[in-house]
Amino acid sequence: MALSVIILAAGKGTRMKSALPKVLHPLANKPLVEHVYETAKKLGAEEIVIVYGHGGEQVKAKCYHFDARWVEQKEQLGTGHAVQHGLEAVNLENDVLVLYGDVPLTTTDSLKLLLEDFNNKIALMTVKLDNPFGYGRIIRDKHDKVVAIVEQKDASDEQKLIAEVNSGILAAKGRTLNDLLNRIDNKNVQGEYYLTDIFSLAANDGIEVVTSHPSGAWEVEGVNNRLQLATLERIHQMNIANELMTNGVALADPARLDVRGDVDISNDVFIDVNVVLEGNVKIGKGTTIGPNVVIIDSTIGENVVIKSNCVIESTIIENNVDVGPFARLRPETHLHEKSRVGNFVEIKKSAIGKGSKVNHLSYIGDTEMGADVNIGAGTITCNYDGAYKHKTIIKDKVFVGSDSQLVAPVTIGQGVTIGAGATITKDVEDDALVISRVPQRHINGWKRPQKK
Ligand code: UD1
Ligand code: CA
Repeated sequence: MALSVIILAAGKGTRMKSALPKVLHPLANKPLVEHVYETAKKLGAEEIVIVYGHGGEQVKAKCYHFDARWVEQKEQLGTGHAVQHGLEAVNLENDVLVLYGDVPLTTTDSLKLLLEDFNNKIALMTVKLDNPFGYGRIIRDKHDKVVAIVEQKDASDEQKLIAEVNSGILAAKGRTLNDLLNRIDNKNVQGEYYLTDIFSLAANDGIEVVTSHPSGAWEVEGVNNRLQLATLERIHQMNIANELMTNGVALADPARLDVRGDVDISNDVFIDVNVVLEGNVKIGKGTTIGPNVVIIDSTIGENVVIKSNCVIESTIIENNVDVGPFARLRPETHLHEKSRVGNFVEIKKSAIGKGSKVNHLSYIGDTEMGADVNIGAGTITCNYDGAYKHKTIIKDKVFVGSDSQLVAPVTIGQGVTIGAGATITKDVEDDALVISRVPQRHINGWKRPQKK
């Protein structure tokens, strides 16, 4: 049966105390609602409908890439009212699953379990909590059948003792849901149209409710304030760390790795503390990532050593390369096999050839470097003339002495040796020695000025 998913995202999120709509707050660098959207996608939903309200334009602008329909709920009159709005955009013959834009961590496994042959029943995800305060309580009859859900504010003292609570996540045939919702009212303490009121109506109609449960309460926990957001972030990160370790990745401290994207990390990779991986990051077998390293959208080969405090973005690093400590690799950097980039080196949009070394205090930008090149300490490629960027080409086996400037556009031929302190402004032919420093002068017996 085809599946439609309605994501409720109209709430204001007052307790976030933020100008940003709640569902746009990031978890692992991705808006909350995007986590939910991706879960719906993974379930193979045929239609995804997002019910929006507060900050709707901002939400739509940020989520422009969603393959979803947007339905506005102008006034937030309750969860039942919101789902009714969503149903207007849904094929009522489909199965309909209700998810929440501020409940980001529900797993597809738990949702598949929920959706498992519920046919003409209502499928409801419930969970038992040590502290059920604030949640709707599940009321069961003596045959253990769900007969109603009572909200915290409407519950009797006896009902408040019930530990089994409503996650809010449920599924039913679109038509069933629609028929039931057409009959709810707002005669309750909050004056809202409760989605949860469909359960007593269903019980009266003899519609069966089947319940399933998530692997942990975190799967159905929502974000109302920044503390809850941070708590879910930690749970999410711990889940990722656990999965990595299960796959053979060594983590110095699973609580001190943050993954904010999609990573593909081979076994026997070692990751030290305080590492942040963002976007698409691939790391090959046997590679070591030192402490305090940030890697964004990069591919790193096998047996690479990244020492501490490096920032690496949109870079390709081949096998057996050494980087850092304190290296900054900016977008479109490509470090070929066995090359070496040392401390306080910045590289941008450049290829460092096989076995080449840039060991200390250099800036290499817009450069194509061959194999076995040695770049001395303090070498700068002057790639920018104030208006345009220019290219530096350094052929194989070049030796650049310390504190040299290569003023682009310029080509340094194969095997060239550049003496320390050179400023190179013209192309150099293969195998030449270039010296461009001012000859050393001596003024003997020179007296420095003295203070009187
Ligand atoms: C709801 C459930 C409660 C359950 C709890 C789980 C109802 C009446 N109660 O309570 O049984 O235990 O969730 O977290 O359903 N929303 C809209 N439009 C509205 C109202 C709400 O889009 O008009 C959205 C909110 O943005 C939020 C979600 O629906 O994402 C839940 O609404 P909220 O008011 O937080 O429900 P609870 O009182 O927490
Ligand atoms: Ca509420």
